Amino acid sequence: MNTSPLPSVSSLLRGVPLINPSLLAADFAHLERDIRSLEEAGAEILHLDIMDGHFVPNLSFGIPVVEAIRRATELPLDVHLMLQYPESYLPVFRKAGADFLSIHIEVAPDPRPMFDTIRRLGAIPGLVSNPPTPVETVLPFANDCDLILTMSVMPGFGGQSFNPVVLEKIRRIREVADDTRLISVDGGVGAETIAAVAAAGANLFVTGTALLGHPDIPAQFQLLRRLALQDQPSTNFADATADVHNGGSQ
Ligand code: DX5
Ligand code: ZN
Repeated sequence: MNTSPLPSVSSLLRGVPLINPSLLAADFAHLERDIRSLEEAGAEILHLDIMDGHFVPNLSFGIPVVEAIRRATELPLDVHLMLQYPESYLPVFRKAGADFLSIHIEVAPDPRPMFDTIRRLGAIPGLVSNPPTPVETVLPFANDCDLILTMSVMPGFGGQSFNPVVLEKIRRIREVADDTRLISVDGGVGAETIAAVAAAGANLFVTGTALLGHPDIPAQFQLLRRLALQDQPSTNFADATADVHNGGSQ
């Protein structure tokens, strides 16, 4: 049963740019240890990838694992539903502990009814689009949800290469979305790519392999945040640079 208070999007926005670790790249035999090191590194949110073997050609983890993660941390859980039929699963993932529930535009060309359901369940709605999906399909709904996530890889697997097609899409979303929206990117985000996405206007950076595959997770977390911070289009967060180290390794 999810009893955690819902995170406030406005308080998350005060901390942007935010690194959003994808637990798909965690060591599942030591999930709690990895969550603890992400918390110690300064993570303010966690990204959970749910796959159905149909909308994407892979399976990841399901409800019992989300419940276990919920028990292990109070961080907001951003649940990315890579499901052909997300509607039927919204209540169970909310009950398992999801705070954000993001659905793909490819399976919900008018996502507003599902946004309503997600809000009724007490969660925060997000909208995701794949690299080949035109940004025009997403723009009309950019201010109907709180999180707009643009994939920079075809979803289904961690560790893929970043597709720069995402940059122009994020610029367009940034123009249309108001300042109260989280603008996110997912796939191949690491030290070599994060600055470009930040400059395009993203403020929430899902990162799996580049962070959890690194031997020094806290140092890498700080490095990624510092790189994102430098390239925010309009930054009010100059004071936050005092919090980050200069010696992060790549
Ligand atoms: C891919 C998932 C991603 C994935 C990102 O389908 O949506 O969240 O974990 O992993 P990296 O950062 O390794 O590309
Ligand atoms: Zn994801």
